[in-house]
Amino acid sequence: MAKDRFGRNIHYLRISLTDHCNLRCVYCMPEDMTFRPNAELMQDEEILTLTRLFATLGFDKIRLTGGEPTIRKNVVDIVRGISATEGIRSVSMTTNGLLLSRLAQPLSDAGLERVNISIDTLDPEKFKRLTRWGKVNEVLEGIEAAEEAGLTPVKLNAVVVTGYNESDVVPLAGLTAKHAWQVRFIEMMPFAGATEFQLTQMVTAAQIREQIEATYGPLEIVNGGKLDGEARLFRLQNGLGDIGFISSVTSPFCSSCTRARLTSDGVLRLCLLRENEIDLLTPLRAGANLEELRALILDAVWDKPWGHGLQEGAIPLNRVMSEIGG
Ligand code: 5AD
Ligand code: SF4
Repeated sequence: MAKDRFGRNIHYLRISLTDHCNLRCVYCMPEDMTFRPNAELMQDEEILTLTRLFATLGFDKIRLTGGEPTIRKNVVDIVRGISATEGIRSVSMTTNGLLLSRLAQPLSDAGLERVNISIDTLDPEKFKRLTRWGKVNEVLEGIEAAEEAGLTPVKLNAVVVTGYNESDVVPLAGLTAKHAWQVRFIEMMPFAGATEFQLTQMVTAAQIREQIEATYGPLEIVNGGKLDGEARLFRLQNGLGDIGFISSVTSPFCSSCTRARLTSDGVLRLCLLRENEIDLLTPLRAGANLEELRALILDAVWDKPWGHGLQEGAIPLNRVMSEIGG
């Protein structure tokens, strides 16, 4: 079991399959973003070797992220390999949903359990402006395909950005009246690249909730207000689904964090919002044995930062979100 010095049991690994993406969301990356050459990314076998290694240390929950994980070549085979790994109990994915109408069923057949799909607005024009060229209809088709393939419960992620989609939180929340989906509103976090934009255009979870309640009336608390992963859950009166708030900036959930992140270039990062990193791919390629790699991971986990330092102005500048893997 991998524990950190504060006694947190770290057993949830988010693996970024690629830093590339088929969209360019304004809060995530610049339009002219340059991506890593493929040789720098973990190769399929390297991903599986590292997954096996993490599994022997008690990691049992994997989430695949990007960039956009579905554009990775062989993504279905990678999912199959990870879900067949001894000790791995669940494999899920965070995706923009564009390719799910084609991939949802094969991914589900390969062992994928669930998906979180990003959708920040239902309005085609606003969606295009936020993502720089995306078609919201393709995401909606992807959501449908995910449901049909049993990748449920479907969770939808929305980042709210001043000047882009503040008023869209009401129709997004309204989806939960008729669908058993979990619509989660995520506070925008500052990273390298778009930092100033992210800091000035951020909308707080409290502001989002206020807007939803102004239309739908008071939200009902779900689970007695306990965190579900990173989200606090609520429900519209008589709603089928849940509404979640992920207030990473205004009310961090660091004390209950169980995660580590493996970037697409094979670097272990113990906190999304801290720059500390430990390269695993270079030693793996240099022939380090499994014991040496295990020791590197356990040391890194032990030193997991207590929490982020956004309140003190500590903003991670060494990677943008898509290079870390959300
Ligand atoms: N702050 C918060 N969430 C972000 N995402 C991307 N960039 C940011 C940011 N700066 C979200 C995406 C997606 C998930 C991978 O992370 O919308 O849902
Ligand atoms: Fe791509 Fe997700 Fe970043 Fe949007 S937020 S550009 S979909 S990685």
